[in-house]
Amino acid sequence: MGRSDENTAAATNKVVVGCDHAAVDGKHAVVAALGDLDLAVEDLGTEGSESVDYPDYALRVAEAVAGGRARYGVLLCGTGIGMSIAANKVAGVRAALVHDIAGARMSRLHNDANVLVLGGRVLGEPLIKEIVKAWFETGFEGGRHARRVSKISEIENRGRGSGGDK
Ligand code: RB5
Repeated sequence: MGRSDENTAAATNKVVVGCDHAAVDGKHAVVAALGDLDLAVEDLGTEGSESVDYPDYALRVAEAVAGGRARYGVLLCGTGIGMSIAANKVAGVRAALVHDIAGARMSRLHNDANVLVLGGRVLGEPLIKEIVKAWFETGFEGGRHARRVSKISEIENRGRGSGGDK
């Protein structure tokens, strides 16, 4: 591990993974990379080439993370765009669409992303594996970034639960 920080995803040892038909091979690359990191993986589908709707799989993974069944998730579709849009509709999810190592590190360091999103049609499998490794070996920096992430939660919670004007 690059950092021994307990905030690294690798320290938590539980990851849910999902994809649509456009990224099944990419998902297999992710599962292999997570195995190399000794992380427990729950694969929530899809499997095979039958056409499916990416929001269904985004919801499975996002709800597992938001509900605490897993602390982290990885989602893949053709571009990663649909999965990231859908996953970010679930309160508590911070899904980051990542295309390179720098983005992988920054989405953990500054954004405390809890779902990594990848595009199976736009990234090769070697790069997918490198991104997964970098993402799961990087911890949240906290400090001023924690304040900013809290503000994201505040946006998410607007109009929910308070029962009145504030
Ligand atoms: C499926 O054809 C494709 O639209 C999907 O995998 C994804 O790229 C959507 O954002």
